[in-house]
Amino acid sequence: MKEEIIQKISELKKQRNAVILVHNYQKKEVQDIADFTGDSLELSRKAANTTADVIVFCGVHFMAETASILSPDKKVLLPDSASGCPMADMITAEQLIQFKKENPGATVVTYINSSAAVKAETDICCTSSNAINVVKSVKNDKIIFCPDRNLGSYAQKVLNKKLILWNGFCPTHMKMLPEYVALQKEIHPNALFLVHPECPPQTVALADEVLSTTGILNYVAKSDAKEFIIGTENEITFKLQRQYPDKKFYPVTDLAVCPNMKKNNLEKVLNVLEEMTNEVKVPKEIADKAIIPIQRMLEVKPS
Ligand code: 13P
Ligand code: SF4
Repeated sequence: MKEEIIQKISELKKQRNAVILVHNYQKKEVQDIADFTGDSLELSRKAANTTADVIVFCGVHFMAETASILSPDKKVLLPDSASGCPMADMITAEQLIQFKKENPGATVVTYINSSAAVKAETDICCTSSNAINVVKSVKNDKIIFCPDRNLGSYAQKVLNKKLILWNGFCPTHMKMLPEYVALQKEIHPNALFLVHPECPPQTVALADEVLSTTGILNYVAKSDAKEFIIGTENEITFKLQRQYPDKKFYPVTDLAVCPNMKKNNLEKVLNVLEEMTNEVKVPKEIADKAIIPIQRMLEVKPS
């Protein structure tokens, strides 16, 4: 049955000239059929450069929106149209417009985990892997950072620069409390602690490295260490354990699951390829504005 679905997906993919882009948090069965898996920045670059006519985006809604903004002539399909990101929903365009009025003259840096309408009110976007370089590239001393207060706090600390933070957060990463990390460190004293910057600042403060999802995967690939405590969504921990059976990976907590990322599955991928439904399309007047901060971000050089 599963093999049949995979076979059908593969045939339809050719027929439709489709590419399947998959975020690192997606279920294993979905990652297994990917043309490309990655973090938000890598997936944006892939979406911008693909020659496919159809992008099946296995991630959450803002990621599919970003792909549609970058490739407006392609059909972007989200297998489960209800897979949103609660953090992205924590700021609306109207709220950002009001916040800009309260902080006149500020440059707006917006995390990619945001709606297209919010990006349209933004000067430059960032992701977890380039936030430090993006904030560094802004010449203004007055910077609004939204919506993730934790990623903003991390950038503040690294750059020793005060940012005007919006009070958004990721409910999944907020579950990774410093006391859970302390407990894991006590049980596994030789383990390195790798963390995603969406975690609370007190948790990030305990980290050996602060990295994006792909950053965590790449760090382990190069490290000689044998044990790791992983401070992000647990799919990364499972993926690492499968990839490196001789090493040991410990989640900070079993509660670190993003329910939205788990909504996509093989049946839903097949369904959108068959029916060409669940298209994510950003209205042109918003997309024309939102593409500017995304392109500015893509031009920031990695350090
Ligand atoms: P990455 O860009 O690090 O993959 O993070 C995306 C995300 O939503 C993390 O919660
Ligand atoms: Fe959004 Fe958090 Fe899920 Fe990432 S893990 S998609 S930030 S809810």
